[in-house]
Amino acid sequence: MKYLEQFLYVLPAKKIQLFWIVVLFVIVSTLDAVGIGLIGPFMGLAVKPEFVERNVWLFRIYEGLPLKNTNQFVALIGLSIIIIFYLKSFLYYRIQSYVLKFSYTQQVKLKLRMLRTYLALPYSFYLKTNSAQVVQNISNESASFTYSIVIPLLNSIANIFVLIVLLLLLAKTDLLATVSILGMLLVAIAPFHYFRHKIAEWGRDGVEANTETIRIINHAIGGFKETKLIGCESFFEEQLNVQTVKYARAASKFHISQQLPRIVVEVLLMMFVVGFVSLSLVIAERSENLISVLGIFAIASVRIIPSASQLITSLGVLRNAKPSLDKIYLDLKELEKPEVVKYLEMTHSSNSGKAVEKTNSSLNDYEVDKLNFAESITLKKVNYSYPESDSNALKNISLTVRKGESIALIGKSGAGKTTLVDVFLGLLIPQAGDIQVDGRSVYQNLRTWHQSIGYIPQSIFLMDDTIKRNIAFGVPNHLIDEKKLRYAIELAQLSDLVRELPEGLQTSVGERGVRLSGGQRQRIGIARALYHEREILVLDEATSALDNETEAMVSEAIRALSGTKTMIIIAHRLTTVEHCDRIYAMDKGQIVKYGSYQEVVLESQNAKLS
Ligand SMILES: Nc1ncnc2c1ncn2[C@@H]1O[C@H](COP(=O)(O)OP(=O)(O)O)[C@@H](O)[C@H]1O
Ligand SMILES: [Mg+2]
Repeated sequence: MKYLEQFLYVLPAKKIQLFWIVVLFVIVSTLDAVGIGLIGPFMGLAVKPEFVERNVWLFRIYEGLPLKNTNQFVALIGLSIIIIFYLKSFLYYRIQSYVLKFSYTQQVKLKLRMLRTYLALPYSFYLKTNSAQVVQNISNESASFTYSIVIPLLNSIANIFVLIVLLLLLAKTDLLATVSILGMLLVAIAPFHYFRHKIAEWGRDGVEANTETIRIINHAIGGFKETKLIGCESFFEEQLNVQTVKYARAASKFHISQQLPRIVVEVLLMMFVVGFVSLSLVIAERSENLISVLGIFAIASVRIIPSASQLITSLGVLRNAKPSLDKIYLDLKELEKPEVVKYLEMTHSSNSGKAVEKTNSSLNDYEVDKLNFAESITLKKVNYSYPESDSNALKNISLTVRKGESIALIGKSGAGKTTLVDVFLGLLIPQAGDIQVDGRSVYQNLRTWHQSIGYIPQSIFLMDDTIKRNIAFGVPNHLIDEKKLRYAIELAQLSDLVRELPEGLQTSVGERGVRLSGGQRQRIGIARALYHEREILVLDEATSALDNETEAMVSEAIRALSGTKTMIIIAHRLTTVEHCDRIYAMDKGQIVKYGSYQEVVLESQNAKLS
């Protein structure tokens, strides 16, 4: 069954654990059945203790015991029933706690595994996936994996065993009655089997509505200023309303369908017990062992009704959760796609071939591999085209940066500057060409390459945390190096700001840095790159969003670094790149001209003027 295969793939636990759980379930259900099985004879004997002599087995046991009369023997049977039930209940309790602990642990592990997977995937995955989906998968789908798959599945297994054992017991007591009960259960299950596609569909609707809800909230709240000023609150409300109604419809239909089995099974079973007794009396006149048969049936019904209806309910929940399982499964499977495997091997070059398992099993430590960079970085005939795009965004790009040099990329919007930088950063993998550091390809060890570059985009990403932790991004508190921190702040020209703030470095920047100005945010980005001591700095329009005065200040901070760091700068304002050693002009994915500032910028300006 495909379901089971997917389940086992997603389940983080070792499969042997599942096996033991099943074994425990078998033991409990057997004890359960033995206990119930004893109740029948017990009731029969209670009415007519002399029956003991008629049953070979019972009589042998009776003879072997030093008892005065059969009444004592019956009491002894009663006692053993009590003990068995105690034992069973205790075991049942222990197993349930074990199973629940197991299930919730799976949720924790699955969340970690998913986060690890999403972090390991190449950037190209995020060019086609909305982050709302990733949020939804890690926070909600992994939870529903526990509630709607692990627990119901284990419950189903338990219930199937209980049912099998009880039905076997019944079959031994009265075959006809058992066959009728079985038939009745099938009648009760049939409609739900018929509805299984509907149930899965409701599940899919629910998942979709939830993902959309996150997306809509992200849009409305993320663009709060725009929402407010354009006055389109009702637009988002309407969208949210549609999704909520869709969810409510799917969820209510599903939950109502979940109530039905219990109701149906109850009615059928009651009908059956009463009908069976009446018919036995009227037609067959089988009153002899009716009491013991009834005893078994009464208890069996007490166990069969909940077990059967729980089983049907669990099966429904499992169906309903199929879309969730599909989503988790597909995203985890993403790691096994050939192009992703290739990418993982580049980032985990130390043990290639095992890249997928490594990603699955270990979190990376805080250690930074140092790149040995002595001479130059060379791009050789790099070609890149975006997935699902037929034209090349980069065509035959070749360039060289020597250590300590600063180069600039200029060109119209859409010329391919950001694409080139993303390829340079090792975020996008070119279809052809190579990037080499001192003659060695960076694709032999992408992780080291990543860890050699400081990246400052147009709008840097800030966590809703303190300035200190935003500069030492990703470093745990106790490992933050105060000296490096002060140095980075000094060089990024943030000292004045930090001094003026009442809480200094501990000032919280707010979500995405709302409490800072654009220039301050960018300088935190520079400080971050400096704190992490990256040898190569890449600035993609890092100062473009700033006003002239702030830009001058940030540019000053950047210029102060030239010579000590190797830099690639994309800038909007040409004055920002005046100090660069070389300027590359790009157009339509190609380098159309390069040389000194004088040669590329001034001469073309002069050419235009004349
Ligand atoms: N994710 C993407 N998928 C497909 N095409 C893209 C994607 N991102 C950018 N492009 C295209 O690549 C070209 C270069 O874009 P970009 O590198 O961002 O230009 P620049 O940074 O120079 O303004 C543009 O034509 C753009 O439409
Ligand atoms: Mg750009």
